[in-house]
Amino acid sequence: MRASKIMSVFFAASLALTACSGALGGALGGGGNELKVAILAPLTGPVPTFGVSTRDGALLAIDEWNAKGGVNGQKVVAQVEDSQCTPDPALNAAKKVVEQDGIKFIIGEVCSNASIPISDYANSKKVIQISPTSTNPSVTVDANGKVKDYIFRACFIDPFQGQVGANFALHSLKAKTAFIMEDQANDYVKGLADYFEKAFVAGGGKIVGKENYTSKDTDFSAILAKVADAKPDVIYLPDYYNIVNLVTKQAKEKGITTPFMGGDGWDSPDLDLKSADGGYYTNHYSAEDTRPEVQAFVKAYGAKYKDEKQQPKVPDALAALAYDATNILLTAIQNAHSTDPSVVKDSLAKISFSGISGKITYDQFHNPVKSATILQVKDGKVSFNSIVNP
Ligand code: PHE
Repeated sequence: MRASKIMSVFFAASLALTACSGALGGALGGGGNELKVAILAPLTGPVPTFGVSTRDGALLAIDEWNAKGGVNGQKVVAQVEDSQCTPDPALNAAKKVVEQDGIKFIIGEVCSNASIPISDYANSKKVIQISPTSTNPSVTVDANGKVKDYIFRACFIDPFQGQVGANFALHSLKAKTAFIMEDQANDYVKGLADYFEKAFVAGGGKIVGKENYTSKDTDFSAILAKVADAKPDVIYLPDYYNIVNLVTKQAKEKGITTPFMGGDGWDSPDLDLKSADGGYYTNHYSAEDTRPEVQAFVKAYGAKYKDEKQQPKVPDALAALAYDATNILLTAIQNAHSTDPSVVKDSLAKISFSGISGKITYDQFHNPVKSATILQVKDGKVSFNSIVNP
């Protein structure tokens, strides 16, 4: 793994976006003139910005396909369901779209905890699921280590993300010690904390404290007192932005100046930039990426979606990955000239796709091998730090 500060080296090596070419024509995929795709996104619950970005990224991709004539002549119709980043509501949303609406293609969920139960269900029903953003390995692989044939994702996985975070702490921040805070009931948080720990220790670092909390906690003072005693070089907090906001605010109030580090779960327009100032996180993409396809996407997204001040929205990683996941699915259907999931899954397994978040080909476990981006929270904004290739 090598890190590079020179964005242009990586970007120059990236291929041009080819996903949307040739969308016109081709044989009908069957199933009438509409191709229905479900978007399962957490629009309510603990992390609503994840849902909004995911929905909007996916809908932009679908609009672009329809403007070019659809997929093999079929119009793509989206059905958006609120899956809440929570196992039961997510599974119920999946059952609804499959059993009531007869949908065979799912984009979602965002959160690993929600995507894992959906994936077991979808795979058993021979329904294709592509999670744009769920990074826990168990989304695509079952308990026996066997790949779930109908399940794919558009993002890298957490063993890589945790290792990138650990190497950054060790080599860029020169950290010798780390304190880990985790919610063990959250598959994503627990997994990422474990992978970070393994890599940090393997690289010669020492874990000087590890504390568990739950997603219901709002007062972190007891844990933060232990952090203050342990005096670590970094605090690893691989949770979602809602928890990160609470913890970093309370740490600042306690005068803790140790940098926090986290993973992609920090990525939100609602991340409290003041509290998280001085922190770093691993992510999938940066809107500052100068590749022309990224800038075209940022422009198209900003033209379609506005914030409360009517300013163009800047797409985050969730929007970029939902856009990529949707384009991957529709490209695979187009290439297969079929909407039979058993045919589309084989088309997906062999796809080579150049997306906003990088080039995607699948390994035997349906995981893309992709680079990670490291972002820094500083002076009221999130800026690009470096790219790490696998
Ligand atoms: N990777 C997170 C998970 O698996 C979801 C996530 C991805 C959140 C990207 C934010 C940005 O649960």
